[in-house]
Amino acid sequence: MAYPFQITSLNQYHIDYKKSIEQPEEFWATIADTFYWRKKWDNVLEWNFNEPKIEWFKGAKLNITENCIDRHLEKLGNKPAIIWEPNNPEEKVRVVTYNRLHKRVCQVAQMLKNNGVKKGDRVCIYMGMIPELTYAILGCARIGAIHSVIFGGFSAQSIADRLEDANAEFIITCDGAYRGAKDIPLKAVIDDALIGNKTVKKVIVYNRTRTPVSMVKGRDIWWEDEMEFAEHQIENEGNVHFEAEEMDAEDPLFILYTSGSTGKPKGVVHTCAGYMVWTTYTFVNVFQYNPGDIHFCTADIGWITGHSYIVYGPLSAGATSVMFEGIPTFPTAGRFWDIVDKHKVNILYTAPTAIRSLMSFGTEPIHNKNLSSLKILGTVGEPINEEAWHWYNENIGLQKCPIVDTWWQTETGGCLISNLAGITPSKPSWATLPLPGVQPVLVDETGNEITEKDETGLIKGNLCIKAPWPGILRTTWSDHERCRVNYFATYPSLYFTGDGALKDGDGNYRITGRVDDVLNISGHRIGTAEVENAINMHSGVVESAVVGYPHNIKGQGIYAFVIYNGTDGDENLRKQDISATVSKIIGAIAKPDKIQFVTGLPKTRSGKIMRRILRKIAEGETSNLGDTTTLLDPGVVDEIVQSKL
Ligand code: WTA
Repeated sequence: MAYPFQITSLNQYHIDYKKSIEQPEEFWATIADTFYWRKKWDNVLEWNFNEPKIEWFKGAKLNITENCIDRHLEKLGNKPAIIWEPNNPEEKVRVVTYNRLHKRVCQVAQMLKNNGVKKGDRVCIYMGMIPELTYAILGCARIGAIHSVIFGGFSAQSIADRLEDANAEFIITCDGAYRGAKDIPLKAVIDDALIGNKTVKKVIVYNRTRTPVSMVKGRDIWWEDEMEFAEHQIENEGNVHFEAEEMDAEDPLFILYTSGSTGKPKGVVHTCAGYMVWTTYTFVNVFQYNPGDIHFCTADIGWITGHSYIVYGPLSAGATSVMFEGIPTFPTAGRFWDIVDKHKVNILYTAPTAIRSLMSFGTEPIHNKNLSSLKILGTVGEPINEEAWHWYNENIGLQKCPIVDTWWQTETGGCLISNLAGITPSKPSWATLPLPGVQPVLVDETGNEITEKDETGLIKGNLCIKAPWPGILRTTWSDHERCRVNYFATYPSLYFTGDGALKDGDGNYRITGRVDDVLNISGHRIGTAEVENAINMHSGVVESAVVGYPHNIKGQGIYAFVIYNGTDGDENLRKQDISATVSKIIGAIAKPDKIQFVTGLPKTRSGKIMRRILRKIAEGETSNLGDTTTLLDPGVVDEIVQSKL
């Protein structure tokens, strides 16, 4: 057993699960004991879901970077922490050892300090998938600044909104980022986001693509110059490294914005100690990581999966984490398999949408690739359909690798429901059993626990969690009430996930998808209200309604019903204009897949749009639309059905 808290048998899973529920404080204290603390906690857990107030390891002092880096240096200093695979396979791979990571993170912390960043300040990070992104994140954590990473696909307007909400004074970015055949001008997007911004004092720019950028005097500075200066400074001051800031267990570690059912993304806040313990514990147990294994999570660090399972979880466990700059289909659809072959990857963690997209190229891209190093496969982000599960199992895992289907959310910090690779049974398309510390419950509309099985022998309901685990969100930035209303008020004393689920007689869970107005497009969360707001910004649009529909590759596609009164005639051009507007306001990831122009929307007499009906129409249903008699104008439904795309 490589880690003291590693679950190594089904029996131990059951014992640990039971203990985690009956004696949570003892259970988590034993696990937390294996980390490095400047000072241990006074209390393991204090909580109530009504405020909500959730405090783990209160009174403890730590710095997460000492756990992710310093504590490994003696034994693992020369071992790779990060193996970086560039977008262009001809460019050189970079291997970052723990020693090197330590040095760079200290330099970043010093650089931030030199530029006025203090504990608690918000630093927005908008970079491509390069090692410097990891240095930036950990540099913030080392100095105690709160990082807020923004995915490179978000627009200037989205960044501006997040900067304002977080009141961020500092930005770390790149001139550009490579993504497949594209070169994305990140700094130019930041420049647009900063028009009218009054809080940002410094923008640190790393030179990746040598894209020409405008550098504003006094505000914009080059990473390379600042890092060199910081390096000499640490040496000249005779320090071995940059001393990590001592943080309280419950000090915020980062903010990550995510979509909900309202128009405005929420800044989910995770704190230092609980998040650290949860990501490390789940990383080791779900993936059954053993020292020396090469772990490859294909997510972008702009999303929670990258935060937890490229950066914090693996590094805290002293693992080797592969970081990939590119996309699965560039330069060929064999890119993932080349990387697995080249770096002898043992654990591959990706999204169902990537699997489905690669499936569509057939098995030719896999031929001649040696995938024998693979031991464990994982998926995350959306329900995996059985066809994709079997394809992954047969062609990639060669039927010898357990597949972990990990269900979790930005708000949960790490996996909550998942099989443990090779330890607990898998079931295609089922996330299966809760991890120790996680108490799921399925409720009906009014919040009553459902215990009755339906005719198929399954329990079906809305998925809630009864008690806190260490990685649960603590608040939403700048608005605690919003956190309460969003997650803890739908059903009293329960955390509501927004997902629906099924449960079988063995206690396995199958996630069926969101039950709120949140879409899951290629594993990315997007609120329908956000997309509608963006569409409505277009001058010719009167009103719109957005719903999801099944999409072969993306899982869900975006279907927009739009009332338009502009005078421009060409329908295709109008559609392009609307898409361009959405790209500008949110980012290209939120562009509608289908736009249907309509003269009216189905509304109740009180003016509420009946999305249920629109969803059915988008899904291709033409009859059986349910009761339409309560509609203000039932005729509008026929018209929409007839002009359906
Ligand atoms: C969905 C991603 C089914 C779910 C880590 C959840 C899943 C949302 C799975 C969170 C899974 C994630 N099976 N559905 N294994 N994993 N989801 O915040 O709807 O980007 O609520 O976090 O993705 O998305 P988020």
